[in-house]
Amino acid sequence: MTTLVPGTKVVIKEKIMINIGVLASGRGTNLQAIIEAIEEGKIEGRISIVISDNPDAYALKRAKQYNIDTRYINFKEFKNREDYDKEIIKTLKEKKIDLVVLAGYMRILSPYFIRTYKNKIINIHPALLPSFPGLHVQKKAIDHGVKISGCTVHFVDEGVDSGPIILQKAVEVKDDDTEELLAERILKEEHQIYPRAIQLFSEGRLIIKGRRIFIK
Ligand code: GRF
Repeated sequence: MTTLVPGTKVVIKEKIMINIGVLASGRGTNLQAIIEAIEEGKIEGRISIVISDNPDAYALKRAKQYNIDTRYINFKEFKNREDYDKEIIKTLKEKKIDLVVLAGYMRILSPYFIRTYKNKIINIHPALLPSFPGLHVQKKAIDHGVKISGCTVHFVDEGVDSGPIILQKAVEVKDDDTEELLAERILKEEHQIYPRAIQLFSEGRLIIKGRRIFIK
């Protein structure tokens, strides 16, 4: 038992839990890594919703296994990208989302979405940006002959994979690499740096100065 001397100031460090919204279209291994980091107490936050444009995304199943709310939104029911994004934003607002995490989300966000959540949307990309933006980048890295590739967590801006870089991890490209082998080794590192970047965000430690991000 602690005996307090009268007049002693007791400072209780209050933890602020951020609400995370995840957008995913596929298998969701990054989602899984984030869920596990939260369960291990590494991230001061909770995933309040997982939204997908694909009803069969395994990411939705993973979320359900952890009793995380999910929502499938069918793109075909909307007349354009902005209307679709407005529906997503409606759900994110209802859930009071502080951070939008793209985890294998295969749609380009509208400028409206990006403006609404400025500096609050992050993405992971399986190459060392600004090299190899876009799709099939592990193959592009091998075909180009680079000796080092890797992965990048970045804020999302209106360009393709062009936003300010938060964290990167290098992965060696081996002489006998196939697209699959390289992708697998990069993915392992993605599972480390994505939760770490979210942890830093949740702790308010990311300082944005123009294109550069400093870690407090
Ligand atoms: C990852 O390679 C990520 O870098 C890219 O999409 C893939 C998603 O994989 N943006 P998963 O669905 O998280 O397993």
